[in-house]
Amino acid sequence: MTLSLAARLDAAATATEARLALALADAPLPGERLRPERLMAAMRHGALGGGKRLRPFLVLESAALFAVAPEAAVTAAAAVECIHCYSLIHDDLPAMDDDDLRRGRPTVHKAFDEATAILAGDGLLTLAFDLLAGSDAHADPAARIALVRALARAAGIGGMVGGQMLDLAAEGRFSGGAPLALGEAAIRDLQAMKTGALLSVSVEAGAILGGADAQARAALFAYGRALGAAFQIADDILDVEGTAEEVGKKVGKDAAAGKATLVSRLGLDAARALLASLVDDAAAALTPFGTRGALLAQAARFVADRRS
Ligand code: IPE
Ligand code: IPE
Ligand code: MG
Ligand code: MG
Ligand code: MG
Repeated sequence: MTLSLAARLDAAATATEARLALALADAPLPGERLRPERLMAAMRHGALGGGKRLRPFLVLESAALFAVAPEAAVTAAAAVECIHCYSLIHDDLPAMDDDDLRRGRPTVHKAFDEATAILAGDGLLTLAFDLLAGSDAHADPAARIALVRALARAAGIGGMVGGQMLDLAAEGRFSGGAPLALGEAAIRDLQAMKTGALLSVSVEAGAILGGADAQARAALFAYGRALGAAFQIADDILDVEGTAEEVGKKVGKDAAAGKATLVSRLGLDAARALLASLVDDAAAALTPFGTRGALLAQAARFVADRRS
C-alpha cells in the first residue's frame, strides 16, 4: 500500500471513529428519554475500535473530488458506517452466519447476548438516518433527503438486506438443505446487493455532498459498481486463503456453509482473474477525474490485494 493511501485511510478511520463516538455517547439527545447502558455498550462494541473504515474513506475521498472538506463529509461517512456495522452484527448472529469472531474480537452476541445484538443492530440502523437528517450532514435539506433515499435504497430490500436474503437462500436452508446451484450471473447479483450496494452508495454519497454533475456521478457509479464486486470476491478469496489472525474473523466458513461465491463457482484462479479485471474497470471509470482520481484507483487495488 502506498504511504498516501495508508495515511488517508488512517485519517478517515480516525475522523469516523470520533464522529461515531460522539453519536454513541451516553447522554440522551433531545427527544430521547434515556439511553440504556447495555444497549449503548453493545452498539459501541459493534461500531467502535476496529474495521478498515473503507466505506467512510470512500465517502470522504469521493466528496474530496468536489472540494468538500472532510469535516463536511464525516457525518454522512459515519452514517454509512453505522449501516455497515449493523449489517455485520446481524450477519454474525446464530440465525445468520453464526460467527464468534469479528474484527479480532468476540461478536456482539458473544460479548453480550443475541437479543442485545439484534437491538444494537437496530439501533445503528436507525442512528444512520438520524445522522443524515441533521444539518451537519449537509446544509441543504434537498441534499440530505437525497442522502437518506440513496442510503435507504442501498441498505434495504434491493440492496444489502435483499442480498443477505439471497445469500442465505443460496445455502439451501429454505429449500431442503442442498445449496442452490447458482450461476455466475446470479451470484454477481447477490453480491452486488449484499456488499456492492453499500460500497457504491459510499461514492454516491460523496457525489451528492459535492453536488456532482451527471458525468461525474456516472463515473463514480461505474467505479463503485466495480469496486463493490471486487470487494466481495476478495473477501471470498480471503475466506479460503487467509488466516483468522489476519482477517480478524473465522475463515473457511463459506465452503462449510455452502455459500454461493464466485470462488466456489469459478475456482480460485478464475476468481482472481475476475478480481484483477474489476480493479482495472474501477480505475478506468475514474478517467474523467484525471490525476485527482489516483487515490480512489489505488483504493481499488488495495481492496483486491488486502490481507485483512
Ligand atoms: C466485511 O466488510 C463484510 C463484507 C461486506 C464482506 P469489511 O471487510 O469492510 O469489514 P471491516 O469493516 O473492515 O471489519
Ligand atoms: C457479509 O458477507 C455481507 C454483509 C452484508 C455483512 P459475509 O458474510 O461474507 O461477510 P463476513 O465474511 O462475515 O465478514
Ligand atoms: Mg454473510
Ligand atoms: Mg458472514
Ligand atoms: Mg465473507
